[in-house]
Amino acid sequence: MTDLPRIELHLHIEGAAPPAFIRGLAAEKDVTLRGVFDETGAYAFRDFGHFLQVYEAATEVLKTPDDYRRLTRAVLEQSAEHGVVYTEMFLSPDFCGGRDVPAWRDYLAAIREGAAEVPEVEMRGVVTCIRHFGPDKARETATCAAETAGEFVTGFGMGGNEAIGTQGDFAWAFDCAREAGLGLTTHAGEFGGPESVRQALELGVSRIGHGVRCIEDDTLVDRLAEDGIVLEVCPGSNVALGLYPRFDRHPIERLRERGVKVTVSTDDPPFFHTDMTREYEALNRAFGWDEAIFSDIYRTAAEAAFCDAATRKRLLDRLAP
Ligand code: ADE
Ligand code: ZN
Repeated sequence: MTDLPRIELHLHIEGAAPPAFIRGLAAEKDVTLRGVFDETGAYAFRDFGHFLQVYEAATEVLKTPDDYRRLTRAVLEQSAEHGVVYTEMFLSPDFCGGRDVPAWRDYLAAIREGAAEVPEVEMRGVVTCIRHFGPDKARETATCAAETAGEFVTGFGMGGNEAIGTQGDFAWAFDCAREAGLGLTTHAGEFGGPESVRQALELGVSRIGHGVRCIEDDTLVDRLAEDGIVLEVCPGSNVALGLYPRFDRHPIERLRERGVKVTVSTDDPPFFHTDMTREYEALNRAFGWDEAIFSDIYRTAAEAAFCDAATRKRLLDRLAP
């Protein structure tokens, strides 16, 4: 198919946990997970709200820093299998030490150890608050991010349920992260409409997680294109969660044609039965995207990555024709 080195900007560490890994940990710890897997052993969920519940239920077995070291390794090994050379992983102190800064440092050290065990993939961490946990917890999360900002923790973001509150409720957290020098991204325009994307822009982000529902507002699409805002598009996730019925109805092609900077990621790959190879193949089938287009997409991702200049140059050199 292709030997292009792949760059992924949007991957939730817990959402990327292979089901067998979670089942193995549950067995080791003698924990019974109910309502997480279907009869084939895959993650089971009905809709977006239920997906978030199952996601959080599976984290019940991820208790210690060493669990996160092993998880990081397992996730990166999968990324490497699909040709990923650079990935930004969303890490949530809510699940790693309960937003306590010293505990978070321990989890982070373990995650970095796990990352060092898979040298084929360069990893950066985007500390991510969870919208439905509310602004107070997001402040604590931003404090964790600011205290550990550096060569590995390079970004701050927000995931979770867009139906709860507004982006603006989290302005303090994003300001705190910005002042610490972190790159900013937030989930918007996934289950929220164009208004949520406008609110995200008010937070001063350079990237938006998903953002695809901007397509419902022509003026907004033009603004995103003009401002060079980068969308972390996860087409397989959007199809699996029922936002669009099929890949060929997904707006990523129209957004690209309109000059919006789009990238391709997997979000929570085993939940959505996807990986970077399947995304490539599905977009190739749906829109005829070839290696030249994907090379552009990965170059856009390298340019938007929350990394230092030397790393960016290395990535761009690897992508040079
Ligand atoms: N957390 C994990 N996956 C997510 C998604 N697709 N949207 C919002 N929050 C998430
Ligand atoms: Zn996401």
